[in-house]
Amino acid sequence: MTLEATRPGPRLPDFPWDTIATQAAHARSHPDGVVDLSVGTPIDPVPEVVQRALGDVSDQPGYPATHGTPALRVAAEGALERRFGVTGLDPDAVLPTIGSKELVAWLPTLLGIGPGDVVAIPELAYPTYEVGAQLAGAEVVRLADGAAPPAGTRLVWLNSPSNPTGRTLSPDALVAAVAAAREAGAVVASDECYLALGWEAEPVSVLHPSVRGERLDGLLAVHSLSKSSNLAGYRAGFVTGDPQLVRGLLEVRKHAGMIMPRPVQAAMTAALLDDEHVSAQKALYGRRRAQLKRALLTAGFRVDHSEAGLYLWVSRDEDAWTTLDWFADRGILVAPGTFYGPGGAQHVRISLTAPDERVTAAVARLS
Ligand SMILES: Cc1ncc(COP(=O)(O)O)c(C=O)c1O
Repeated sequence: MTLEATRPGPRLPDFPWDTIATQAAHARSHPDGVVDLSVGTPIDPVPEVVQRALGDVSDQPGYPATHGTPALRVAAEGALERRFGVTGLDPDAVLPTIGSKELVAWLPTLLGIGPGDVVAIPELAYPTYEVGAQLAGAEVVRLADGAAPPAGTRLVWLNSPSNPTGRTLSPDALVAAVAAAREAGAVVASDECYLALGWEAEPVSVLHPSVRGERLDGLLAVHSLSKSSNLAGYRAGFVTGDPQLVRGLLEVRKHAGMIMPRPVQAAMTAALLDDEHVSAQKALYGRRRAQLKRALLTAGFRVDHSEAGLYLWVSRDEDAWTTLDWFADRGILVAPGTFYGPGGAQHVRISLTAPDERVTAAVARLS
């Protein structure tokens, strides 16, 4: 055996963002600077209430609890009820995660999914669902709209509102997806990190009583504070739902040291107790979205879906890489739809996460 045989994990795809380096360099050479609409990274300030809470807990020499503080769990349960009408959850079924990406990447492994099992993901999807299945050695199946998961499926990912398309699933569509997953004997993990950003649709949680009825078994909702509270830099998320599943995840995460730092737990609690900053941030994104959408339509693009979430899903029925170059010529960097699956070959994804001044610059360059 040589050292060569020891590799960190299975072979994974190239990191997608590395593949647009040429277009990024070209866009950056624009005399008035780049407008980067490629990544959904928040750029507005961390809410004051959160910064204060973080500062108040800097003296924390001991280990934090993997389960989080009781205050954090109660705050998460309360926020889901106030903001999204999710009632009847037990705060003990809330488990903090170090942002939601790590949970997405490791959930199949944490659930004991492995070779011979299937993980079903949306046809167009956040790439980490596939990575998580690959890390576990499971097979990935991309499910077309309304398609039933195949035999052997142990985990079904839902993502409404969707990254990248902004599409939302109606309560009826969610009910059908849950029923089909249960029929296959699969856990449903609903990634709800864009739930607070509904524009022409009102997104609904898989845990809403209109979807789950009286049953929580096999259901997990994954939440992130990155987008709604500008906390991407803090790494703050949580998972909740079926108490038995959450308890199992907690046990494994305790052993594996997957613990949210105690100061971040306090910051996240403050963010979950305050709804004002969430509405203010939504209004900011709403204004940027309206400006960009108008300019894109005037420039001859079609905006598909995009009724919710942080992105505009844009096409003019040509190869995504041709569209990417067209934007780069104007100093605007966008993401090719192919990052999210073969079905994105003629779309680009445009993020709303640029400062107002940069959005105004993009609008001028598009006209
Ligand atoms: C659909 C989806 N899920 C999860 C994440 C991860 O977010 P975070 O790790 O910041 O919570 C993202 C980030 O863009 C996303 O788009």
